[in-house]
Amino acid sequence: MYTVPKLTDYSSAALEKAASELLAALEAEAAAVRSETDWKEFRDRWMARKNGVLTQVNDLWLKAAPKDAKRDVGQRVNELKAKVEQGIDAALGRAKGGESKLTGSVDITLPGIRRPLGTEHPVIKTMNEIVSIFRNLGYSVAEGPEVESDYYNFESLNFPPNHPARDMQDTLFIANQESKPARDRLLLRTHTSPVQIRTMEKLKPPIRIVIPGKVYRNDPPDASHSPMFHQIEGLAVDNNITFGDLKGTLDHAMKALFGSSVKTQFRPSFFPFTEPSAEMMVSCFICGGSGRRGSEPCRPCKTTGWIEILGCGMVDPNVFEFVKRNGYDPKKVSGFAFGMGADRIAILKYGVDDIQLFFQGDVRFLEQFA
Ligand code: PHE
Repeated sequence: MYTVPKLTDYSSAALEKAASELLAALEAEAAAVRSETDWKEFRDRWMARKNGVLTQVNDLWLKAAPKDAKRDVGQRVNELKAKVEQGIDAALGRAKGGESKLTGSVDITLPGIRRPLGTEHPVIKTMNEIVSIFRNLGYSVAEGPEVESDYYNFESLNFPPNHPARDMQDTLFIANQESKPARDRLLLRTHTSPVQIRTMEKLKPPIRIVIPGKVYRNDPPDASHSPMFHQIEGLAVDNNITFGDLKGTLDHAMKALFGSSVKTQFRPSFFPFTEPSAEMMVSCFICGGSGRRGSEPCRPCKTTGWIEILGCGMVDPNVFEFVKRNGYDPKKVSGFAFGMGADRIAILKYGVDDIQLFFQGDVRFLEQFA
């Protein structure tokens, strides 16, 4: 290891030789620096106030120099200091670069980090399934706003003002709408049926559409109710559409959805916008329609062997009156409509016992549908 020699000869040539030996030593030691720890040791050896190489140079070369050589030696020592500082700085750069090359490199033998994969939400999955069944029948998809006017949600669907049928759907109203005419007041749509009218305003018959979407009702949440839920609406309008078309279409859709062995049954019902109206039952695909599972009563069908799936009916001529000018003359066209709850169908399909599970975002629940 280099040690600073005492000088006896202060001639320019002797100073030159001493300086170049010192710089050669600096270079050799800098080249051996491999890490930051190495570098600190290197720096201290050269720069430490107490006994560092530069301090020794100061003491042994400059302070010891005879008076008439001081000027010359001082200049050289300053040059050396600058070079040593540069050399030390450069060595730090190399030490860090070398280290980061080591720690930053990828070890391809380590196991990778597994990123969790997203998946369709079970309700969306069910909706997509139902939509695709109808797409295969030639239906297209329509959508509409969730904040809807009284006109589209009720009036044009043949709910007269103050009609008790409006109470069937506990409506959430947007606040501070009292100054507007009743039909313009805004609310959260209680069903997807307003998109029937919106679509018939835009497209002339014949039409075949399905309408998936969110709907809202002022229901307190429990195992089977949620203030927000999902519906899929259907509407077909053409010449000579009959109740037979309605039954055939829905029977096919239920077999595609729940399996070819399910049966359908239509029971009289009421909706202001369909006449006649029906609720459609599907034979219970959990107990096979027997109402029992072994010695236990079948819960999903409440032992009846039938499960209510949707509301439907022939479009009421009063509804066509609202879009008559766009080609929907009730004397010329007829149609059927239906609406089903997607959450309810997902619950039945997957055997889920609480609708709230769909909206809590608990990954432990949701990942079971991946
Ligand atoms: N909109 C009705 C509801 O939400 C369902 C329905 C749609 C009934 C279409 C008949 C025809 O209850």
